Amino acid sequence: MKPSVLFVCLGNICRSPLAEVALRAEVRRLGLDLVVDSAGTGNWHAGEPPDDRAQAVALRHGADASGLRARQVVPADFARFTHIVAMDADNLANLRRLAPETATAELSLLLDHVPGRKGESVADPYFGDDAGFEVTWVDVTAGAKSLVERFRNGD
Ligand code: 4NP
Repeated sequence: MKPSVLFVCLGNICRSPLAEVALRAEVRRLGLDLVVDSAGTGNWHAGEPPDDRAQAVALRHGADASGLRARQVVPADFARFTHIVAMDADNLANLRRLAPETATAELSLLLDHVPGRKGESVADPYFGDDAGFEVTWVDVTAGAKSLVERFRNGD
């Protein structure tokens, strides 16, 4: 099965859309064939574009997140994607609870893939300031770069 990655956070308007555009950039740069999407465990922001501050940090780093729209995780995601990558430990716990028996996707934390950061969460920037979104960008970029290395190595 072709590798496919679903990034998951709480609202799908801050962290996971940024992880999505960061991984898309790596995929494009390396010419890989990888399906990339994102979703939230919550549905409060379904249908909305990424938070303005998330769009702004993406633009500052040359990525465009404006076309994305939030959606909630659905049971079919657990079979549609080979990898479901949570931004924080709460998201991961919720995913484990939501996973149907037929789930085939490998669940992990984004920073599990980054050497030396196993078990760490990407901090929720929603109630913070622009500096927090820069930290998010650094974290999701590190995760995206580590993930593509894994897929390049056929893992
Ligand atoms: P995200 O950030 O999970 O990174 O998209 C949040 C977005 C919205 C809320 C919390 C976190 N909220 O409480 O509405």
